[in-house]
Amino acid sequence: MDGAPSYPKLRAHAESLPHLKHLLEDAARTDALTFEQGGILLDFSRQNATAETLPLLLDLARERGLESSIKSMFSGEHINETEGRAVLHVALRAPRDATIFDQGANVVPEVWSVLDKIRAFSGKVRDGSWKGVTGKTLTHVVAIGIGGSYLGPAFVHMALENEPEASEAASGRELTFLANVDPVDCVNALKGADPETTLAVIVSKTFTTAETMRNARTVRAWFKSKLGEASIAKHMVAVSTNLKGVEEFGIDPENAFGFWDWVGGRFSVSSAVGALPLSLQYGFDVFESFLKGMRDIDGHFASAPLEKNIPVLMGLFNVWNATFLKLGTCAVLPYAQALSKFPAHVQQLSMESNGKGVDMAGNPLSYEAGEIDFGEAGTNGQHSFYQLVHQGRIVPAEFIGVLKSQADVFLSEEGSSSHEELLCNFFAQPDALALGTTTDNPHRNFEGNRPSLSMLLPVLNAFTVGQLLALYEHRVAVSGFIWGINSFDQWGVELGKVLAGKVRSELVRCRAEGGEVGHSFNHSTRKMLARYLEASKGVERVGLGRL
Ligand code: F6P
Repeated sequence: MDGAPSYPKLRAHAESLPHLKHLLEDAARTDALTFEQGGILLDFSRQNATAETLPLLLDLARERGLESSIKSMFSGEHINETEGRAVLHVALRAPRDATIFDQGANVVPEVWSVLDKIRAFSGKVRDGSWKGVTGKTLTHVVAIGIGGSYLGPAFVHMALENEPEASEAASGRELTFLANVDPVDCVNALKGADPETTLAVIVSKTFTTAETMRNARTVRAWFKSKLGEASIAKHMVAVSTNLKGVEEFGIDPENAFGFWDWVGGRFSVSSAVGALPLSLQYGFDVFESFLKGMRDIDGHFASAPLEKNIPVLMGLFNVWNATFLKLGTCAVLPYAQALSKFPAHVQQLSMESNGKGVDMAGNPLSYEAGEIDFGEAGTNGQHSFYQLVHQGRIVPAEFIGVLKSQADVFLSEEGSSSHEELLCNFFAQPDALALGTTTDNPHRNFEGNRPSLSMLLPVLNAFTVGQLLALYEHRVAVSGFIWGINSFDQWGVELGKVLAGKVRSELVRCRAEGGEVGHSFNHSTRKMLARYLEASKGVERVGLGRL
């Protein structure tokens, strides 16, 4: 990226920016930095940007070949070079008659054959024609998966739980998630669950992830102990690209729902990963509306000119903040309780994608790339970390508001509705950050000039949640294309997994042989492991514990 002609210009430009309180006096500037797509309004006027900034960023985008990168992604080129794979999550929400190719084969019919299978299966479970082994309807779904096989579906579930149409469709049903290998998470996910009415969905792209497979075996043991071996065929199904692994686990391939290696885990919400648990809970029609929302943004992303393309603009300002203004964090702040799990999803989506130290060719990056994403639903965040955001470090913020609540309250004695009270904060915070205020007391000073993006959704329903998710998926890809990194691999998670395996073998060996922890571990780890082995002496090592 630093070889691009606009790169030194952007570097120099970043040194001479006026305070946001002056920039915001210019109404024409605000209008020029406000965009709308599919009912979603995005206001970039509180970015540290003058009239020169966006044109320079667009120059950078063109010099970096952004348009061709986007085209390559949509056309199934193997842009995930380190894994030799296409990146085609957009095919997961393409209409039935679309054609998108991977290695010469149109993938859309396969996508729809899985969606049709999910529509049929979820319909049977929901209407009671698919029954448990004792003849009861399965009303509780436990989705077992971690990372991309958990965070996305969990955030969407929370977003729809109180949406009137979705919540009516989910009446009498329950969806819980089991992600952490901590057995306490098993206790939570199965709390109050009746095995006779529970269906477990194992969600794992690889079907080898240690945490998920351990939890799947635990839940399988739970079913067997309560309902016998025959229950597995009726109470456990799977979502995976590894259908052989699913069969070896003991699940009938008929009850497996596939997807493909061209779907990255963190980009898999629109595959069977999200489709199966969410259709079981809300019905396929609600899930299809979510897909249509994603499709709305995909179409815009693929065709809108760069200067009006909202995920492109989000990605470019992300690069502006992280690389040129050297602001290495981003707070994702939904002013909607229903979106309170969204920041956790963005964390994986963004940080697993763009947390890289080398470019596509393997050369170390000579500029800052990737940012630390975090967040919390407003107003809870205000009473937590906003102190630092207002007076401590400068943290670019992304405020997400919703015009109409899923469940507003109007008290006659209050001048405003409860949702309006929430929105007052949504409207106030970006100005508090941007404008600041000066007093005689340095402790009470707010220097302002802190950048943010404000995004307004008309309502929060399956369609708009789909739009929101697609916007963030593409913002992450755009930033990665500009930085010249591979946003679609995740080698950084491997080393820890290998070391955990080594620790596991050593613990088993020490316990079997009664020996000391070997010297292949350093002194610190040996001391910790010895302490653990000592503490676990005499613990009964059999059974399902509190399950
Ligand atoms: O954390 C690494 C990772 O591979 C993620 O990319 C992925 O979302 C998660 O593990 C779960 O993987 P799987 O779906 O294969 O179980």
